Amino acid sequence: MVPVIMRILIVGCGYVGLALGRQLSSSGAEVLGLRRQGDPDGALAAAGIQAVRGDLTRPEDLEAIPGGFDAVVCAVSSSRGGADAYREVFLGGARNLIEWARHRRVGRLVSVSSTSVYSQTDGSWVTEDSPVEPAGETGRLLVATEGVFAEAHRSGIVPTQIVRVAGIYGPERGHLFQQFLAGLARRDPGQGRWINMIHRDDVASALEAVMLRGNPGRIYNAVDDEPVLQGAFLEFLAHKTGLPLPPLAESADPTGTIPVRKRGTTHKRVSNRRLQEELGWRPQFPTFREGYAEAIAAVISSPGTTFQRPALL
Ligand SMILES: NC(=O)c1ccc[n+]([C@@H]2O[C@H](COP(=O)([O-])OP(=O)(O)OC[C@H]3O[C@@H](n4cnc5c(N)ncnc54)[C@H](OP(=O)(O)O)[C@@H]3O)[C@@H](O)[C@H]2O)c1
Repeated sequence: MVPVIMRILIVGCGYVGLALGRQLSSSGAEVLGLRRQGDPDGALAAAGIQAVRGDLTRPEDLEAIPGGFDAVVCAVSSSRGGADAYREVFLGGARNLIEWARHRRVGRLVSVSSTSVYSQTDGSWVTEDSPVEPAGETGRLLVATEGVFAEAHRSGIVPTQIVRVAGIYGPERGHLFQQFLAGLARRDPGQGRWINMIHRDDVASALEAVMLRGNPGRIYNAVDDEPVLQGAFLEFLAHKTGLPLPPLAESADPTGTIPVRKRGTTHKRVSNRRLQEELGWRPQFPTFREGYAEAIAAVISSPGTTFQRPALL
């Protein structure tokens, strides 16, 4: 529950931002949501969020937004763009947001980052104190973006917090699940890699917990309770849906269209202990078993609508 009437701005009010805004608004908060497109389909209004049209990469758009927010949550995405989009939206956007907050009343600024900043490949558990040395440019840009928020906190411009979010799934989302349904998934050979996931609604509750009770300047991992090996997850899906178990990644691909996982993929188990122990956060969907129950039931009741095998397989 939001304790008093709060005023909150969500920058990048999409899949996660909308869920967070709906939750905050239903608790009595006044919620504004910034998007480049405003509210084209009325989803923000339906969730009790006041839409603000604007682009985070354009300082002049931010200038038009007055301050007076108890919290600002930045959940903007790269819109599936590559390194250039990361640099412009995440890194440039962070700098713009800090400059905007510098002369306004902003109680705290919560920034959504990603567990992809952890590059460990040895299957070890990682916490917020583990090294972050991503191999790819996009990962490095996320680390640099975190640095902008951390520096704004250290220098007293605005209290900031960073939430590193694992692979998000939920209604209409879940990359590996969608690949499985389309017959495009491939099981990792050997032991395979750990995957770390979180349901969209638990991302929203984690962001709310950090916003309301989190320590300023702190980093929190948002992930469910149980990492799962990629192959074990696909076995679970096959068992529950009755659909075929995807072949191993080495299998010949007669279509030449199936993407095989690139080398350099991380292999780590991300811990949510800090979020649980410091903030008392508990996921509504502790594991993929609970989180995917609804989507699996929908597949079983209407298999033809989502499952399409490529013609040659
Ligand atoms: N998906 C995952 O598995 C995953 C994992 C870890 C972390 N994350 C992070 O979680 C965050 C939220 O993800 P999501 O799935 O909610 O993303 P999303 O559905 O793509 O929503 C992002 C929102 O940001 C808005 N936006 C994009 N560029 C903008 C800009 N320049 N100025 C203002 N608004 C802008 C988009 O609306 P308009 O297009 O109308 O602007 C959209 O509403 C992102 O930071 C993402 O990187 C995601």
